[in-house]
Amino acid sequence: MDHDLRLEGYAFTLRPVQLEDAAFIVDLRTSDPQRVRYLHAVPRDAELQRQWLARYFERAGDYYWVLERRHGHGEPEGLVGIYDLDPDRRCAVWGRWVLRPGSLAAPECALLIYRAAFELLQLDMVYSLTAADNVRVLSFHESCGLQRGETLPNYFDLDSGPQHAVKHICTKESWPAIRERLAEQAQRIAARIAPPK
Ligand SMILES: CC(C)(COP(=O)(O)OP(=O)(O)OC[C@H]1O[C@@H](n2cnc3c(N)ncnc32)[C@H](O)[C@@H]1OP(=O)(O)O)[C@@H](O)C(=O)NCCC(=O)NCCS
Repeated sequence: MDHDLRLEGYAFTLRPVQLEDAAFIVDLRTSDPQRVRYLHAVPRDAELQRQWLARYFERAGDYYWVLERRHGHGEPEGLVGIYDLDPDRRCAVWGRWVLRPGSLAAPECALLIYRAAFELLQLDMVYSLTAADNVRVLSFHESCGLQRGETLPNYFDLDSGPQHAVKHICTKESWPAIRERLAEQAQRIAARIAPPK
């Protein structure tokens, strides 16, 4: 949806996706084979991406962000979203998560997306679904202190074939401990990327 939720972290910010981001989105979602393997395929066509974004702007309960560096020229470095928000159960999915190869933004991006979920959207729970072969992302979630939840058999129909999905749940009760862990990692990385003068 056409939201205006912005979050500022130590080295990165989340700002709402705009129509002008279409080419960046297509590039990020289609260029790197390692990432493409674990995402639903999108056409390599910025005009189709603009049409998809136009429909997204009208969809309630769907928040899509560009992750940018705070310092320098604010280069876009990733994409992330919260969607399928259930207003009665106060829960949603977080995902559509892609970072540029070599990015150090993962802990801060996760921190910001959980802040959006619990502090801005006041959710009680968010969960992620990760392809079962995507071991780096699975271990990232577990390094944050999240427990591995149920496995949904053949949940994803990806170009690389059907894939089981693994669920990781973060509740508002577990969020403070996760926040502490992620904030510590994000601050350490921020000091490397943009050391205080
Ligand atoms: C499912 C997951 C793996 C990726 O999700 P995703 O493919 O980005 O997005 P969704 O699950 O919302 O996709 C649902 C639909 O929306 C479409 N969609 C999502 N974002 C889109 C976009 N920017 N443009 C066009 N279509 C899009 C997908 O193509 C899919 O369509 P389909 O059902 O017709 O195939 C997500 O759970 C995730 O981010 N996991 C953890 C991080 C990760 O592994 N990232 C990948 C590699 S680093």
